[in-house]
Amino acid sequence: MPEQISIGGVLISRTAALAPMAGVADRAYRLMCRKYGAAYVVSEMVSAKGICYSDRKTAALCTVTDEERPMGVQLFGSEPDFMAEAVKIVLEYRPEIIDINMGCPVPKVVNTGAGSALMKDPALAEQITAAAVKAAGGTPVTVKLRAGWDENSINVTELARAAESAGAAAVAVHGRTRDQFYGGSSDSSVIAAVKQAVKIPVIGNGDVTSAEDCLRMYRETGCDLVMIGRGSYGAPFVFREIAAALSGEEYVPPTVEEKMSVMLEHIRLMLDLSEKSEELAMHEARKHAVWYMNGYYGSAKFRGRCYQLSSYAEAEALAEEFIALQRERGAE
Ligand SMILES: Cc1cc2nc3c(=O)[nH]c(=O)nc-3n(C[C@H](O)[C@H](O)[C@H](O)COP(=O)(O)O)c2cc1C
Repeated sequence: MPEQISIGGVLISRTAALAPMAGVADRAYRLMCRKYGAAYVVSEMVSAKGICYSDRKTAALCTVTDEERPMGVQLFGSEPDFMAEAVKIVLEYRPEIIDINMGCPVPKVVNTGAGSALMKDPALAEQITAAAVKAAGGTPVTVKLRAGWDENSINVTELARAAESAGAAAVAVHGRTRDQFYGGSSDSSVIAAVKQAVKIPVIGNGDVTSAEDCLRMYRETGCDLVMIGRGSYGAPFVFREIAAALSGEEYVPPTVEEKMSVMLEHIRLMLDLSEKSEELAMHEARKHAVWYMNGYYGSAKFRGRCYQLSSYAEAEALAEEFIALQRERGAE
């Protein structure tokens, strides 16, 4: 297995990448995942039209810090001209890669003809990719796809070929249809089919939550890189686990003390990077606290308490209480 892959000349460790996740994978989240071994990270999706109209919030989403590199900025849109213009603006932030979202299932995006709606219009999808590639002037452009719109229209190989002929440097494939949203399971056979159909690198995505899942994804699909979304919730160490498994090194899972210390590090970073007050920024950190505590004795009870957190000091106190509960339980 090669140690690195090249996406249009950008070298990325062949371990696992962090998937784009709007409302979750913000800068703090990406930095935590990079620190714990993610090979590559992607921004939350950014509206091509929004950035053309110089929306300030949209611009903040495109910022790439050096610690996050290599990083992709993801755009969504349904018009080739806006996409080309948006790509030119995004280039000012010097991302290593520009990714186009053709997988988002949410009505707000799909109703504008963007996201997974583009899977119903392969010709337009190809035009959008071609426009982005031309505007990117050498910065690699990738396309993120789903299996298809619904189970009767599994057409991702056609879309992947269209992306390749439009000059895309790689495609990422989530093995669910738009209709599935996040239900059911991701079908890795469609990823394997895409790998057979195109020469550009294929990034496999869907339901990978451990090193075992990741190795299976590599083995069963032949994909060039694995991408993880929800499997990294409260678990940035999943990337370290994967890197260890791929290099045959021993991996020791974090103890509850280590988990709580990483949770506090993550929350601290969120608060430091936020322009909001501590209390408002804590609102966004609450769900992460729930995820870090998931899977332990009493975590359901702590969930409600996480959703009441309004300061870092409270998060520290809750973490101590959580650790004490696990120790007590261990001593029983
Ligand atoms: C909360 C959330 C937000 C997401 N936002 C985006 C996004 O902005 N762009 C995108 O291409 N995919 C987005 N996705 C899809 C993920 O990138 C990924 O394809 C999907 O979650 C399947 O991978 P997983 O099973 O590893 O989570 C999002 C998923 C979730 C759960």
